[in-house]
Amino acid sequence: MQFKINLIFVINYLLLFVCGGVHNVFAGNTEFFSSVHQMSKLVQLESVLLQQMQKYIKINENKLDFLKDRLAMLERDNREALEEGLNYFDSPLNKYYLTKRLTVDWARIENIMQHESGKKTLNRIAKYESTNHYPENSELDGAIAGFLRIQEVYRLKTADMAQGILDGVKYNISLDARLCLDIAKYAAKENNMRFTHSWALEALKRLQDPAEVSNNPTAVLAEKLEVAEILELLATSKKNLGDLKGANQTYAELVQLRPDIENYTREYLVFLKENVHKEYVSVDLSDEHEPLPADLHSTDQFTRYKHTCNGLLKQSPSEERELRCGYLTETDPFLLLAPLKAEELNHHPLLVLYHDVLSDAEIEIMKGLSDNRIVRATVAGINGSVVSELRTSQFVFMPRTAHKLLEAIDVRAEQMTDLNMEYSEDHQFQNYGIGGHYGQHYDWFQSEDLLISSREMGNRIATVLFYLTDVEQGGGTAFPFLKRLLMPKKGDAAFWYNLHADGVGDLRNLHGGCPIIVGSKWVLNRWIRENIQSDRRPCELWPDSCRDCA
Ligand SMILES: *[C@@H]1O[C@H](CO)[C@@H](O)[C@H](O)[C@H]1NC(C)=O
Ligand SMILES: *[C@@H]1O[C@H](CO)[C@@H](O)[C@H](O)[C@H]1NC(C)=O
Ligand SMILES: *[C@@H]1O[C@H](CO)[C@@H](O)[C@H](O)[C@H]1NC(C)=O
Ligand SMILES: *[C@@H]1O[C@H](CO)[C@@H](O)[C@H](O)[C@H]1NC(C)=O
Repeated sequence: MQFKINLIFVINYLLLFVCGGVHNVFAGNTEFFSSVHQMSKLVQLESVLLQQMQKYIKINENKLDFLKDRLAMLERDNREALEEGLNYFDSPLNKYYLTKRLTVDWARIENIMQHESGKKTLNRIAKYESTNHYPENSELDGAIAGFLRIQEVYRLKTADMAQGILDGVKYNISLDARLCLDIAKYAAKENNMRFTHSWALEALKRLQDPAEVSNNPTAVLAEKLEVAEILELLATSKKNLGDLKGANQTYAELVQLRPDIENYTREYLVFLKENVHKEYVSVDLSDEHEPLPADLHSTDQFTRYKHTCNGLLKQSPSEERELRCGYLTETDPFLLLAPLKAEELNHHPLLVLYHDVLSDAEIEIMKGLSDNRIVRATVAGINGSVVSELRTSQFVFMPRTAHKLLEAIDVRAEQMTDLNMEYSEDHQFQNYGIGGHYGQHYDWFQSEDLLISSREMGNRIATVLFYLTDVEQGGGTAFPFLKRLLMPKKGDAAFWYNLHADGVGDLRNLHGGCPIIVGSKWVLNRWIRENIQSDRRPCELWPDSCRDCA
């Protein structure tokens, strides 16, 4: 079963687990939000649970139907006895019946009432819960984080996202007030006041929308509480964003709505005290995004990465003029028969995209190999590898000896790079999930201490990144300094050098996987090491004047 729609998953997942109130049921340690592939398994698990629930209801319905029948009969007999008074006992048969009703019959009924119907299904559910991995509550935060990352990077409007419009494509799903509020709360926790404001506003709009209220009458009861929660978030975010006039108004509304809650009064008083000598100006907060910097080129790394992902930062036609496409035939005699389709994306440093280097059949084999083995990706740090919000994906390493196809892939990578593949790391397969991304980074190790696996292999001289899937929306590979965005296309592969010819890390090759909006992204990473490449990479072909660029 192939589930593609990533963000739709997020939303359903959030609706199911946040709003369905299914808290604390889950235990286990597989993480779902970082892989679409893992989440598709959850859908199957859910359907098993629902089948068990249906059985449980059926069994209990049968039991209650039986009891109702019995009750009607017993009531009839009892009424008769009451009406007839002592005459009832004229018949010895009736004496017998009454006694029987209160002994044998009643014991049986009591027995049935006490019987825990559906115990078997409950046991079965408990067994599923213990033998399958369930998402944990903490994963909800991961899901919301991914959702907001998508919004931030692609500069999506809150109102659009809440209606299921993602980067211009309308999906048949919309977010309710509760979920908008949860997103606002998360944004507040992360100190992202613009998103806090816009999502709280969206929640409020939904609560006040008569259509939503009549659709969901049970929500009305909870509404009073939520409105206050929303107003508090609005007031806090307005205050933080400098909209003192708006904050003053919202605090006043909040205190008027809930004069009984001391916290709100106290917060308002603190606000008034803090701003006693200030003029209450009004700030337009209708844009949930920071204004764009005047010059995107002179921003920090993360800002450049974001705007490479969303396409605002790209090469100009004059920068692209020298770049060529063509067939590569030189690196191996075999290529005369089957040349590689190469597209240059940048010269200094070299970045090449090879088209159609993997067949669909090969990709199916690779997915089969890595299926069920992926775990949450880590980021290399001084103290070893750590799970990080920087990298939300799942991966598995596989030695090339695991399958003859992997050896064949390496032959192809050797033709593409003209580098010796003998000293390369194991094949790394990776699947990205909800808002899945790998923030901007270098593939080369920054210090000797970080050289992972055998040090004698040297640093990562080059990378070949194979795309094993298309991605419907988002999920490109961004090179912020080269101003290049590579959109994943199934079967393609990108190649670039990580090091200058003399072995120093190249700062211009900063890159990152952009958040996925819709789709599931599988990639294969081949990291090639420096050892014994000296005859393969003649420096003079790549004049290297840009040591300190970027
Ligand atoms: C949208 O979803 C609703 C309920 O989930 C369904 O009844 C309706 O047919 C769907 N519309 C489209 C266009 O898919
Ligand atoms: C703050 O709000 C209150 C209540 O609406 C209002 O009476 C007061 O004038 C406002 N203060 C300022 C400085 O605008
Ligand atoms: C009031 O504030 C305290 C501490 O700041 C907090 O623990 C408590 O949950 C708050 N109560 C409400 C109703 O917000
Ligand atoms: C690494 O571990 C040491 C000792 O446990 C600690 O002092 C240091 O802060 C850690 N560094 C990082 C980056 O986590």
